Amino acid sequence: MRSRLPTTNDTPAMQQRVITIVLLIGLFFSLSLLVSGMSGWRLPDDQQGYAPVQPIAYSHRLHAGELQIKCGFCHSAATMSQYAAIPSSDVCMKCHAFVTASFNVMREELRLADETKNLLAKVEGKPESEIPALTKQALEDLHEQSDALQIPSDQLKILYDSLGLDDQLQPIEGKTPKSIPWVRVHNLPDYVCFNHQAHVTAGVTCQRCHGPVETMDRVRQFASLSMGWCVNCHREASERGIDGHPVSASINCTVCHH
Ligand code: HEC
Ligand code: HEC
Ligand code: HEC
Ligand code: HEC
Ligand code: HEC
Repeated sequence: MRSRLPTTNDTPAMQQRVITIVLLIGLFFSLSLLVSGMSGWRLPDDQQGYAPVQPIAYSHRLHAGELQIKCGFCHSAATMSQYAAIPSSDVCMKCHAFVTASFNVMREELRLADETKNLLAKVEGKPESEIPALTKQALEDLHEQSDALQIPSDQLKILYDSLGLDDQLQPIEGKTPKSIPWVRVHNLPDYVCFNHQAHVTAGVTCQRCHGPVETMDRVRQFASLSMGWCVNCHREASERGIDGHPVSASINCTVCHH
């Protein structure tokens, strides 16, 4: 039977059957949306909440939150160009040439080194045969514990490896540095023009558009990035200003599409 919309000429039974079919089709669609929604499917123009796994478990919560490194230390381009851009590995090395694991692990390594030094000082100059077996065992244990600590940490090894450096941060012969393949979180369609500098210099904070990034272990898309989102803020900002400063954010089509 071919489904069609009911007309006033149809018998009540016929109308009922058509309505049932229409309802069933509707139910099928909402169920299939629900099912595909559960497997990570999303509408193509709404990637809100998108938080792809990154090649290194780099944490904004740790760096921008706990360590309070300013956004501009790594995304300095945002104040002077269209892009905020992802920092190169050299920026990471300003610290990670020295910080090769978490603080806790490095503290433990220092403690073990200290203990080893103290034990060795006690037996210094003694011939091997006079060193008590217990002391030898203790030294061996300390050595094993130190070996078990992962320095550099697995995650930082990925950073060093991308720069062509080994675990001792020495260049690996014949290995050319490669940039880390970070996965883009935000993606506007090509036909939209967006510019960081214009917004940042007008006093719009990073967090207004990106949310509390300094609390995120893994960055996720906070806003919808829909046209309505852009236009609503432009309208509101032009009426009320940004933090009391008057602005004129245009809602002309050609400002964002050219
Ligand atoms: C120590 C360097 C560093 C600091 C400080 C830093 N970031 Fe990042 N940021 C990165 C790196 C590396 C990435 C790429 C990996 C990722 O997405 O987590 C990134 C990615 C992002 C992204 C996602 C970009 C995309 O669409 O792919 C946003 C948004 C962002 N940062 C905003 C901020 C904000 C806001 C701050 C300050 C609160 C900040 N960042 C501080 C290094 C940094
Ligand atoms: C008015 C909203 C807005 C503000 C303010 C803003 N961003 Fe963005 N940001 C976006 C949008 C939209 C994109 C996606 C751009 C695209 O896909 O072309 C983006 C992309 C990014 C990216 C990905 C790389 C790039 O340059 O495209 C990073 C990193 C980033 N923003 C960091 C920041 C930081 C850090 C600040 C504050 C200094 C900031 N953003 C301020 C809206 C904003
Ligand atoms: C201003 C200094 C600084 C910069 C720049 C910096 N980090 Fe860090 N990072 C640290 C410190 C300090 C720690 C250890 C913090 C702790 O243990 O509490 C750390 C920890 C880490 C860890 C976790 C290590 C572990 O074993 O737990 C990773 C991964 C990491 N950083 C990656 C990066 C990457 C990638 C970049 C560049 C985009 C970067 N960091 C830039 C200071 C920095
Ligand atoms: C939180 C508020 C806010 C959001 C969200 C926002 N804007 Fe803006 N936009 C502004 C303000 C404020 C200005 C600057 C007005 C001024 O300089 O007087 C601006 C300016 C612009 C300009 C003009 C740049 C220039 O060169 O003059 C463009 C283009 C633009 N925005 C595009 C976008 C697009 C595209 C989006 C969405 C992806 C967006 N904006 C989202 C507040 C916002
Ligand atoms: C402040 C920025 C801004 C302004 C002003 C703006 N747009 Fe858009 N427009 C966007 C963004 C961002 C998208 C992409 C939305 C998405 O991917 O969901 C978009 C998408 C579109 C699309 C594609 C919609 C779709 O479903 O694929 C059309 C068509 C469009 N805009 C037309 C217009 C027209 C016409 C005007 C003027 C009345 C206008 N836009 C003004 C930012 C803007």
